[in-house]
Amino acid sequence: MFHGFSNIFFGINPQNKFGILMKNGLLITLEGPEGCGKTTQCKLLYDYLKQKKYSVIKTREPGGTLLGENIRNILLNPDYKNIDILCELFLYNAARAQLLKEIIKPSLKSGKIIICDRFFDATLAYQGYGRDIPKNIIYSLDKIILRKILPDLTIVFDIDPEDGLKRALKTKDNKIGDRLEQESLYFHQKVREGYLSIAKSAPKRTKLIPSSQSIEKIHKIVCTYVEKLLAKKVKEEFGLINEN
Ligand SMILES: Nc1ncnc2c1ncn2[C@@H]1O[C@H](COP(=O)(O)OP(=O)(O)OP(=O)(O)O)[C@@H](O)[C@H]1O
Ligand SMILES: [Mg+2]
Repeated sequence: MFHGFSNIFFGINPQNKFGILMKNGLLITLEGPEGCGKTTQCKLLYDYLKQKKYSVIKTREPGGTLLGENIRNILLNPDYKNIDILCELFLYNAARAQLLKEIIKPSLKSGKIIICDRFFDATLAYQGYGRDIPKNIIYSLDKIILRKILPDLTIVFDIDPEDGLKRALKTKDNKIGDRLEQESLYFHQKVREGYLSIAKSAPKRTKLIPSSQSIEKIHKIVCTYVEKLLAKKVKEEFGLINEN
């Protein structure tokens, strides 16, 4: 697994007016089924890192760019219920390519921490496990779109799909939900299984947190993982300096 964002220069590249910058930035992604708390935790983590003076941005998938937000509107629109599963797959990847070009790559280059509300794991969970698209197709597209960029840390929130959908719909005015929220419970169960299997297969990169706990408790756990990641990066950097 590629980990190219390990050089943190807290001392050498100190806080500027935008906050603490790192040499190669960090990418943290938050994942999980509908209503598991991704957006809530993204905001809390963003505020936490900002308050600690890191240079941090938050973004989301699909979306995060003008073009990507327009693709998001198509993808979530219940009018497109009969969308072809490959059309859906390519639209997610199209939005991702744009997000990488406009936001993720430049932000990593300038040393920022990026918090992304869903990323490539969501495609494996929803289109791979949920829609049964062969995994090798998903992996091939990942290779083309991501190149060497992988998250440094992925938090996967686990929730029973019924509870998650209830939570997600609570926030909707019409209580109907978007195109994906309107999918069958069976589909959402497959997505959940997908996320559990992703977390299991990439234990170094991913951390699984049960969403049955309070928002505050989960936030604390997320912060612990992020602090560990930051500490590890600092250590690695000093290790490199000592070796030279
Ligand atoms: N740990 C929690 N316990 C109880 N309620 C929660 C918890 N986390 C989030 N919520 C609530 O559940 C609802 C959905 O949360 P949120 O929007 O953060 O989930 P999400 O994963 O981003 O959903 P979506 O998949 O629809 O984007 C919100 O009303 C939020 O306040
Ligand atoms: Mg959300």
